[in-house]
Amino acid sequence: MAESAVITIDRHIMEEERKHPEATGRLSNILTDLGLAAKLIQREVAKAGLVDILGRAGRENVQGEDVQKLDVFAQEVIYNAMDHGGNLCCMVSEEHEDVIPIPEEFPAGDYVLVFDPLDGSSNIDVNVSIGTIFSIYRKLSSGGRGTREDCLQPGRALVVGGYVVYGSSTMLVYSSGAGVHGFTLDPSIGEFLLSHPNIRLPEPPQRYYSVNEAYYQRWSLGQRRLVDTLKGMGDKGTKPFRSRYIGSLVADFHRTLLKGGIFMYPRDTASPRGKLRLLYEAVPMALICEQAGGRASDGEGDILDIVPTDLHQRTPLYLGSREFVDMAEEFLREAPDLPG
Ligand code: AHG
Ligand code: MN
Ligand code: MN
Repeated sequence: MAESAVITIDRHIMEEERKHPEATGRLSNILTDLGLAAKLIQREVAKAGLVDILGRAGRENVQGEDVQKLDVFAQEVIYNAMDHGGNLCCMVSEEHEDVIPIPEEFPAGDYVLVFDPLDGSSNIDVNVSIGTIFSIYRKLSSGGRGTREDCLQPGRALVVGGYVVYGSSTMLVYSSGAGVHGFTLDPSIGEFLLSHPNIRLPEPPQRYYSVNEAYYQRWSLGQRRLVDTLKGMGDKGTKPFRSRYIGSLVADFHRTLLKGGIFMYPRDTASPRGKLRLLYEAVPMALICEQAGGRASDGEGDILDIVPTDLHQRTPLYLGSREFVDMAEEFLREAPDLPG
């Protein structure tokens, strides 16, 4: 492909689809619809700071629309973009306790969409990058609408994992198991353009570690020794890493994907199973990380091997350059127990 080629995400998806003669185009439709939802969310994110001004007259803005919380808005945009296309049999969202059915009046399709409509909520009002995370599975059950079992598949069965990061620019990054590709939104034409084909974690990786150190006292001894070592304080004296922590998984992972390093959200005494959700935070990022040459672990083993038992189950999460995730598992194996 010529370096200067201008390739839209829709064109890229169609070209990828052509490599699979058995493809029906349904998966491409899902990704295209998600791209549209991302543009609509980006438009609201871009003016989030204005909402107070626009919405100063109470609950309505100057267009007479209800001023909504951005994560409620993102949830509704994605649901309304995806519920009628006939591509999905059901959905799972961080914002809904149960499986979200496709309305009876619309046809059901062969795929399941699992998503976190807005990730990094604590950063919405302070103009820091936030995101949307999504996973797409193939329906397992025969006939009818999707079931809970269709949604509780291990990450190894994932068809597509992806995220949108609403930052200084808006990017959509996804993998369908054939590498990782990044698209940057050109707002002047409203198109996501291929800007980062075949993303690979850099070798050697830049030495960044990313973790919320406020929870240090709640961690296992192994986790504390690991972070002490990354800071050059451990008894295995290594050159100190640099610390970066944004507090939005999408933004922290996106930096790790492009620069290398390790992102960690360990389990601790307050969250003994970790804070981040397996289905719509850890798994899609794990697919992308592995496809980019990295590793994704819960501290003991691969995230993608975990068989989910609950739609909203949590997991410890270690994402990034292979050698750093391996190192984390080694420290945790030596002293895994949480403080009493
Ligand atoms: P969400 O806004 O979807 O609830 O996700 C927030 C998550 C994740 O984005 C981030 O890595 C983590 O919360 C930050 O947690 P702490 O504030 O505890 O560090
Ligand atoms: Mn989230
Ligand atoms: Mn969220």
